[in-house]
Amino acid sequence: MTQSIRWGILSTGRIAHQFANGLNDLPDTELVAVGSRSVKNADIFADQFNIPNRYGSYEELVRDPNVDVIYIATPHNLHKDNMIMCLESGKSVLCEKPFTINQQEAKSVIQMARKKKIFLMEAMWTRFLPHIIKVQQMISDGIIGEPRILQASVGFQKQFDPTGRHFNPKLAGGALIDVGIYATTLSYLIFGQPAHIKSFGNLSSAGVDQEGVITFQHENGQLTYFSTTILYHMPRDATIIGSKGSIYIHPDFWHPSQISLRLNNEPERLIEVPCPLNGYHYQVLEVNDCIRQKKEESEIMPLDETLTVLSILDEIRNQWGLKYPME
Ligand SMILES: NC(=O)c1ccc[n+]([C@@H]2O[C@H](COP(=O)([O-])OP(=O)(O)OC[C@H]3O[C@@H](n4cnc5c(N)ncnc54)[C@H](OP(=O)(O)O)[C@@H]3O)[C@@H](O)[C@H]2O)c1
Repeated sequence: MTQSIRWGILSTGRIAHQFANGLNDLPDTELVAVGSRSVKNADIFADQFNIPNRYGSYEELVRDPNVDVIYIATPHNLHKDNMIMCLESGKSVLCEKPFTINQQEAKSVIQMARKKKIFLMEAMWTRFLPHIIKVQQMISDGIIGEPRILQASVGFQKQFDPTGRHFNPKLAGGALIDVGIYATTLSYLIFGQPAHIKSFGNLSSAGVDQEGVITFQHENGQLTYFSTTILYHMPRDATIIGSKGSIYIHPDFWHPSQISLRLNNEPERLIEVPCPLNGYHYQVLEVNDCIRQKKEESEIMPLDETLTVLSILDEIRNQWGLKYPME
């Protein structure tokens, strides 16, 4: 018989709802508890998703003996403390991206999980989606020849709210670590860690990055360039250009349903990469499997990748003089 994995959700915001929707349809997966800063929000969320245990604090959630693993979906600046609290209670953790606001914070959490031998993973959901698996396969099969350039854009027009998590430096706002992380992760997947980083970012008067253009040069000269913003809508697509052709990843490139293959001198080929359910369930399946197999980390989304991507984001923010108040 397959061991059922019992999940708790820490916080009740926008993405926590989508995550609960994705999780609820899975076999051998139970959503047993939710914790919120308020009893009222915990109750509303729990009623919506038929969750038996609801708590008006995160502390009570992590003490629930019925919970095997906790999904964290608070603003970025809280991830580190939330993860540490879960690990101290012996709970496995899946934490939203960005895992922490910088590499230093991530190191301390990862060190603790490794010492306590507890499963920990960043919820970089896009790593598990069908389009990424297809793109990785096409590249390793040499279909576009040697990949040389990645171009991408990732940004949305966010409603201005000085206290909200996108515009508020106290909540580690800005575009780069919120959505630029998707382009950084895609670049890392294709080319690995950059050898050189050059970037420009425009900061708001409050001190978060509102728009930016980032370039990487990789070890064998391959290039990445992408743009980010929270001020206006962007195409949100990505193109991987190789010596024999290119792969166009349709918007939004981190969860599209189509990609196009454009081989030199051949008509474009549209490839469907449908994603059943809402896509958030793939990472849940991976966590479930890892916990059942008593693994301490995922081979698909390893903690060292989380650390490397954060070090790249650190360097970009360093070039912009962007330090969060809690750093
Ligand atoms: N993977 C994805 O596709 C994806 C998409 C969007 C966001 N995210 C990530 O998920 C995290 C949450 O994003 P979100 O869009 O869901 O945010 P959100 O709607 O603002 O929800 C955040 C939740 O965190 C809790 N919270 C605790 N302290 C808070 C504070 N000081 N201010 C505001 N909220 C606080 C609140 O829940 P309670 O009141 O219940 O405690 C709140 O509802 C971020 O790290 C983000 O990068 C991932």
